[in-house]
Amino acid sequence: MGGGPEARGLASSNQRPRPPRAVCIARSPRPCRAGSLLSIVELGSAHTIRMHREGESMPRMSALEASCCRSAPWSLLARRMVPWATQGFPVTGNVLEIGGGSGAMAEAIVQANPWVRLTTTDADPVMVEVAQQCLVRFPHAEACQADATRLPFEDESFDTVVSFLMLHHVIEWEHAVVEGSRVLRPGGALVGYDLLASRMASLVHRADRSPHRLIDPGAFEPVLDQVGLELLALRLSFGGRILRFVAQKPATR
Ligand SMILES: C[S@@+](CC[C@H](N)C(=O)[O-])C[C@H]1O[C@@H](n2cnc3c(N)ncnc32)[C@H](O)[C@@H]1O
Repeated sequence: MGGGPEARGLASSNQRPRPPRAVCIARSPRPCRAGSLLSIVELGSAHTIRMHREGESMPRMSALEASCCRSAPWSLLARRMVPWATQGFPVTGNVLEIGGGSGAMAEAIVQANPWVRLTTTDADPVMVEVAQQCLVRFPHAEACQADATRLPFEDESFDTVVSFLMLHHVIEWEHAVVEGSRVLRPGGALVGYDLLASRMASLVHRADRSPHRLIDPGAFEPVLDQVGLELLALRLSFGGRILRFVAQKPATR
């Protein structure tokens, strides 16, 4: 596990102040929580998850990648990718999306499942605005600004947490897994996909200058284990470059 963003040499121009913890600006089904959060991450094993500290800055995607994520072609593709990304796992109940970007996948989920109540979140306020516009037609969906590593939601308040192609931008992605697990109800599931470390993915992100930390092959499963999530499905695609996962919080703890 590497150091923080500074330790990895990220340019300060790529960083912005972290948003305050309780920044939910839409119709949240859960009150935002201003208290402590990551005390559950006293993992103390060989695979230690580092904690963010108040006031630390958060890496930001490059303008190029951010605009790509908001583009019409990507939105179209992202919408179509939901069944593949979720491996057919039912996305039900109270759903939280972390790093939801433009809200394209959130829109596809609520369109396919009108009975879900969905909150999509992103650290980038511009993305949140785009997602709010995208979801305006859906009364049971909302978009709010939140850092995935310090979610402003109560413990055990969601049935499903979805994470699509965002963990590698979080840098300390383990924290997002910790937080995803914290806000999941017993029996709830963390579902998503992300890039695994590969030469191609590193080159693309370096060329584009987006801060990133790709997940090393084999690094994801121990983190799930440490936060108490049980792996239901793990698939490698595109020659082992993409990881799809479904992990469940045990119903009885
Ligand atoms: C590659 S985009 C993917 C967006 C969307 N999930 C999709 O598939 O279209 C990654 C997203 O993660 C967001 N992000 C990066 N770090 C984050 C963090 N710490 N908390 C929440 N969102 C974050 C970025 O702002 C960006 O919108």
